[in-house]
Amino acid sequence: MKQQQKNSAMISPGTALAMLQKYGLSQSRIRHCRGVARFAYNLAHKIADTNPELAVNPEKVRIAGLLHDIGRYCDDNHELRGVEILRAEGLHDIAEIIMHGSAYELSVLNGKENIALLPSTLENKIVAYADARFRLEPVSLRDRIDEVKQRRCDEPAKIRSVEMAIERFTQLENELLALARKERGDRTAGGNSSPECNSRRLSSDKSTL
Ligand SMILES: [Fe+2]
Repeated sequence: MKQQQKNSAMISPGTALAMLQKYGLSQSRIRHCRGVARFAYNLAHKIADTNPELAVNPEKVRIAGLLHDIGRYCDDNHELRGVEILRAEGLHDIAEIIMHGSAYELSVLNGKENIALLPSTLENKIVAYADARFRLEPVSLRDRIDEVKQRRCDEPAKIRSVEMAIERFTQLENELLALARKERGDRTAGGNSSPECNSRRLSSDKSTL
């Protein structure tokens, strides 16, 4: 029997939020997901604006931002669980861009490096970066890393993996903000387009989600 496949264009942010409730996410987790979606959408929009050849879809990224933690109700790898859920829901294109890499360095530490745990596409990288930059409010990458280390202080392997991930996330930030900066640099002669400036602008942008 042919499986019916939905795509991101077929679900609205409201439907995605209803899915988070269906899978039992807490209100604070849903608030996090809404913030990640807003941040990811703003960044995707900036990148899509001046890099049309990259075919970034801000609406698809918004839905992925909303759903990236849908597997959070379980104790094992919530990212892999989230991918399974979204595939089961027929949202295959969203399932492909929600891995946010939190378990990659742990796989290295365990001697079983698994690159499938890393963000794989530009849209996926935008979602992963937004997740790193928004907890319950926008934070800097450094503050987010420090927050995780403090919250998971009784888990030595997690602390080590977060420290290992700093360089990867810094490279990710530089890559994405360079793409976003292109807009400012191309259109505003003499404008301040440093990564730090772009980072603050993304944090303060508003969207209707
Ligand atoms: Fe998250």
